[in-house]
Amino acid sequence: MSRYLLELCDITAYRGKTPVFKGFSLAIPEGCSTAVLGPNGAGKTTLLKLISCDIFPVASKGSRLNILGRERWNVWELRSRFGIISHDLQHDYLESAKGLNVILSGYYSSIDTWSYQKFLESDIEKASLIMRKLGIETLAERSFGEMSTGQQRRFLLGRALINDPGTLLLDEPTTGLDLKASFQYLDIVRKLIHDGKTIILVTHHVHEIPPEIKRVVLIKNGRIFLDGEKAEVLTSSNLSSLFEVPVQVVASNGFYQVLPG
Ligand SMILES: Nc1ncnc2c1ncn2[C@@H]1O[C@H](COP(=O)(O)OP(=O)(O)OP(=O)(O)O)[C@@H](O)[C@H]1O
Ligand SMILES: [Mg+2]
Repeated sequence: MSRYLLELCDITAYRGKTPVFKGFSLAIPEGCSTAVLGPNGAGKTTLLKLISCDIFPVASKGSRLNILGRERWNVWELRSRFGIISHDLQHDYLESAKGLNVILSGYYSSIDTWSYQKFLESDIEKASLIMRKLGIETLAERSFGEMSTGQQRRFLLGRALINDPGTLLLDEPTTGLDLKASFQYLDIVRKLIHDGKTIILVTHHVHEIPPEIKRVVLIKNGRIFLDGEKAEVLTSSNLSSLFEVPVQVVASNGFYQVLPG
């Protein structure tokens, strides 16, 4: 039986007083890594916040938000199934938290670790292994506020990976990273997909959509503008209409790049 990672059916959702989605529908099957593109304010972050239960849709007849086949979730259980990386998380994270604790905090989806939280020796070993894999083990004792943007982002990726989630929700994960750090991040994402993880990637950097992501959803003004196979969606004409600026899309080795039209 094919299962859906998420099914949004006729969803209405607000951010504060702003109506972002009205009658929004989208279905992503399990295992279908997907990139989401769209102009600023289109609703991309709101979509990820709906998936992670940071916000909830307006309850109405016929509307449905199913995640991993279920409509009702314990928020903490749900969040442990997803690895989440976003600017909000980076912004809200406690500056005083030590690197190791940033990773361990993923077990409880918390900000920093707290004395009531218990960690086994094996949890700490797992955190150390993840830090080694991400090349940040020397920063284990450094506080989050004293790390560079890219280092912080790696620690948040480590935090996301500690529960071995099946799905990662990445909201502009490489913004502010230098070229080397962005490409290292891209490599990590590609490895994760090869390891069987599903990635939902929101990005403005078209060249950072890995070849392994085959589906692209374009969102504009809270609506699906286009949804389908990457090669069919990422065309000069589609992206020019989406962003209302003439652009030229160039494809190379499974990667895409956008140039001024
Ligand atoms: N906390 C908030 N209160 C009120 N309105 C909000 C809030 N956060 C976002 N919005 C509004 O909701 C709409 C969708 O925002 P969202 O953050 O989902 O856009 P986005 O597609 O992620 O854009 P970007 O590319 O700039 O990150 C925008 O009009 C935005 O102004
Ligand atoms: Mg956003």
